[in-house]
Amino acid sequence: MTKEIRTALIGLGNVGRSFLTILESKQGRLAEQYGLAFRIVCVADSSGVAVNPGGYEPGATRRAKENGVPVRRLAGYWPGVTPGDALAADLECDLVLEASPVNLKSGEPGLSAVRMALMRGVSVVLANKGPLVLAFPELKRLARENGAGLAYSATVCGALPVVNVGTRDLIAADIQALRGIFNSTSNFILGEMAAGKPYVDALAEAQRRGLAETDPSLDVEGWDTANKLVIIANTFLGVEATLADVAVQGITGLAAADLQAAQRKGHVIKLIASATRAGDGYALSVAPTELDGDEFLARCAGWEMGIEIHSDLYGSMYFKDLEGNPLPTAAAMLRDAVNLFM
Ligand SMILES: NC(=O)c1ccc[n+]([C@@H]2O[C@H](COP(=O)([O-])OP(=O)(O)OC[C@H]3O[C@@H](n4cnc5c(N)ncnc54)[C@H](OP(=O)(O)O)[C@@H]3O)[C@@H](O)[C@H]2O)c1
Repeated sequence: MTKEIRTALIGLGNVGRSFLTILESKQGRLAEQYGLAFRIVCVADSSGVAVNPGGYEPGATRRAKENGVPVRRLAGYWPGVTPGDALAADLECDLVLEASPVNLKSGEPGLSAVRMALMRGVSVVLANKGPLVLAFPELKRLARENGAGLAYSATVCGALPVVNVGTRDLIAADIQALRGIFNSTSNFILGEMAAGKPYVDALAEAQRRGLAETDPSLDVEGWDTANKLVIIANTFLGVEATLADVAVQGITGLAAADLQAAQRKGHVIKLIASATRAGDGYALSVAPTELDGDEFLARCAGWEMGIEIHSDLYGSMYFKDLEGNPLPTAAAMLRDAVNLFM
């Protein structure tokens, strides 16, 4: 028996469309192996919200969007309504997939939509870090009180299962320190600059691949990395940290000469997030850091991201992945959704 999951997809950008791409090829597998069918009953982009209880066909919807058709021109367009309004107005759905841009000021449109969904007991899967960074304890409480699922493994390093490992696989561990490269756009830019290539060309390549943030200053000024550190801190370091608790420095102050000078010493400069024990909590920081060329994180190159976690019970763990496009992030949303409903 296949369980149908009525799904609202907020954001039809690089990640949202990649999610539709996955559905196009994996629907049979999802039904057979997991007994699940995701029916896209609502879609939203910056032009508005559209609802079709019968479901939007994933391939046709993706192609329409890629051909420049905005949501307001789809059948079922709901004029003047935000995703949060639609959920407040009892949009019939079981799952909200949130893939709209990060907004660190208001959290919108994601925050209202996530709040509304959870208040109604509708499960939420996020790729968008904004709502979690601004309201982590509140969203966790809403999910718990209303019996809704809340999953967000895609928010920290795309498909690298950092959140999953931290919550599932480090039972009873005291984490002494962790460090990571959490932003592939800035990691790629640093590598290109060290090789003498222009910063602007490297950033343009990240944008062409759909890997840069909608607002790329979040990547290069360190805020995307800090967002991920805040989510990690709240999720498995046991501290209710906010961005105000993180000392943040990006890569915009670095010149090619700095990177090349490090290289001549056998070193590499990387944008490193770190959490180290300090009293009852952790000192949290994001900063360009000179590493010995042999270190694990020094060897995370180009589009790779990585993390090392040092704990009392589990020794030192090292993970990295390579993502050259947004598909793995969309796959991480899929795995979260499947795990919530299986
Ligand atoms: N790209 C990645 O590899 C990656 C990896 C991990 C996490 N993420 C996160 O995933 C989210 C989406 O990233 P992306 O790369 O797909 O971004 P994107 O390509 O810029 O797409 C954003 C989508 O959100 C829509 N949108 C903008 N304002 C909206 C509003 N007010 N209401 C509803 N929809 C709105 C946009 O509409 P239009 O189409 O009309 O512009 C677009 O469809 C971001 O939060 C990002 O941080 C991305």
